[in-house]
Amino acid sequence: MVYIPLDSSRESSVALLREGNTFISTRCERYDTDIFRARLMMEKTICLRGEAAARLFYDEQRFTREGAAPGLLVKTLFGVGGVQGLDGEAHRVRKRMFMDLMSDADIKELTHFAVEEWQQAIKSWQRQTQVVLHSAVQRIHFRAACRWAGVPVDEDAVDTRCAEQAAMIDGAGGVASRHWQARRARKHSEAWMAALVEQVRGNRIQVDEDRALFRVSWHRDVQGDLLKPQVAAVELLNLLRPTVAIARFVTFAALALHEHPGWHETLRQDDTWLEPFVQEVRRLYGFFPFLAARVREDFEWNGYRFPKGGRVMLDLFGTNRDPRSWAQPDEFRPERYEREAINAYNFIPQGGGEHAVNHRCPGEWFTIALIKEGVRQLTRHMTYEVPQQDLRIDWSRMPIIPESRFVIASIRPTA
Ligand code: HEM
Repeated sequence: MVYIPLDSSRESSVALLREGNTFISTRCERYDTDIFRARLMMEKTICLRGEAAARLFYDEQRFTREGAAPGLLVKTLFGVGGVQGLDGEAHRVRKRMFMDLMSDADIKELTHFAVEEWQQAIKSWQRQTQVVLHSAVQRIHFRAACRWAGVPVDEDAVDTRCAEQAAMIDGAGGVASRHWQARRARKHSEAWMAALVEQVRGNRIQVDEDRALFRVSWHRDVQGDLLKPQVAAVELLNLLRPTVAIARFVTFAALALHEHPGWHETLRQDDTWLEPFVQEVRRLYGFFPFLAARVREDFEWNGYRFPKGGRVMLDLFGTNRDPRSWAQPDEFRPERYEREAINAYNFIPQGGGEHAVNHRCPGEWFTIALIKEGVRQLTRHMTYEVPQQDLRIDWSRMPIIPESRFVIASIRPTA
């Protein structure tokens, strides 16, 4: 049996909160390893990084998600009873519901709604001195997602409902007030969604049968039962909230366009480079740092022992920047994909493995489509200035965001 290096601290949670995204990769470098043990959130945890480790992590025979996610995340980001915590057949059935909502027609329709929202927003931005891009795009995506899902929102409730989605995302890795805001937001949002589900079931509101609100409301679980309204609410929020979260990637895309003006010019003119540009944004600015699972039964891997029930954490952040997969990994270089190939385990900003089988994010196609649209809008449908502001990224913050949230000014629509 091979010894797994042990992080020197008796309890490393404080270090995790202090260092954030780089916590696992810093220690992998310190101990010259892809695997180490640490005590995190009062529990012995095996931390893993890199492509080979990701392949292991997504082996369903060896790991379960049940009871793996820290309680703080379940109460803010995930919600109780959602697909993230299911295993086996129950997961497969629930996951199919999500996969069926991600057809090409869905991607096209969501993008179409987003385009309309961008156009309307850009017109209104002309009258403003400055716009904070991150929150403005959150609003665009929220409205587009609600239209796509068939979720009715009163015009005067849009800002509040959208702010709730934003709080759940931003509070996920936070403590103190950020955490409590996220919990409150989840409570309010779940109540809103659960009431809608009851209205759909009681035929008190009309919604098209192919809309997500209808499909989730009438979805039957592995036992053939309807989901509890609270669980259906969690799953509906699993569609709205992350679509709002894509605004973070659009903000980072704007930052990349600003820092690499040559790309702004290239992307304004043709679509060829859009995909690699967007992938590089996702690789470098992935803002979901780690994932957790539990060992099903004792096993050995490369001589290391994994004890039954033990918690394991996979480093998404560090794997996306692993120099064995990516040359000069900290540099923004969309052209890298001409030579360096993405696979299901070396590029994992939204998880790895297979979408239908593993827990990999079913929203990757929505994400890619909406970032692309954001880049098109920023380069082709408007002009703007980037005033002096603090664009630094605090890598210890989970989730990352440029300090100023990317402020733009002198906005003008173009044809
Ligand atoms: C799962 C990230 C967008 C719905 C995940 C996972 C990550 C992730 C890291 C966990 C993978 C795992 O456990 O192995 C992101 C990021 C997004 C995004 C960074 C961009 C902002 C979306 C969108 C949707 C979505 C647009 C739906 C419209 C889900 C669902 C799961 C999930 C339902 C749970 C899947 C499962 O447990 O099987 N996402 N996601 N996500 N994502 Fe996303």
